[in-house]
Amino acid sequence: MAELKVTAIKEGTVIDHIPAGKGLKVIEILHLSRPNGGVLLLASNVHSKKLGKKDIVKIEGKFLSEEEVNKISLIAPTATVNIVRDYGVAEKFNVEIPDEIVGILRCANPNCVSNHEYVTSKFYVVSREPLKVRCHYCERTMEESEILSNL
Ligand code: CTP
Repeated sequence: MAELKVTAIKEGTVIDHIPAGKGLKVIEILHLSRPNGGVLLLASNVHSKKLGKKDIVKIEGKFLSEEEVNKISLIAPTATVNIVRDYGVAEKFNVEIPDEIVGILRCANPNCVSNHEYVTSKFYVVSREPLKVRCHYCERTMEESEILSNL
């Protein structure tokens, strides 16, 4: 086990290999207020062989929806999601930026129909590195910084 600095969790999700400094943003978009008292851990700037430095987020008692995994992929495309059960890693997968982003991102164009009518927002991923998406409705393109502030 690589990270003995941060305690293991019994049951829940470990989001590993987050680019250094992005862990807090991952926590923010998951709206983790922890009202039930589950443990939430953030390790930032931890040594990583693959990334040099990385962040890790551990959330006890939480399992991610597909929508949440897609949001994480936009912030932290290198992230690995580990599902922990009874102290063991039961499942592990890499997040992947989908080809279409539906319902999780607001269009930055204030005049876009998706900001005025009850339509579900939809974007096409035109580039993954650097991240760039195009709105299905108004064709406005958004780059990483705009995407992160409109999640
Ligand atoms: N983890 C945890 N609690 C557990 C089990 C694992 O917090 N009960 C965390 C580990 O600390 C690690 C991540 O989940 O950050 C993945 O665990 P594991 O697969 O054992 O670690 P590595 O082999 O280092 O993972 P990888 O190969 O993905 O780098």
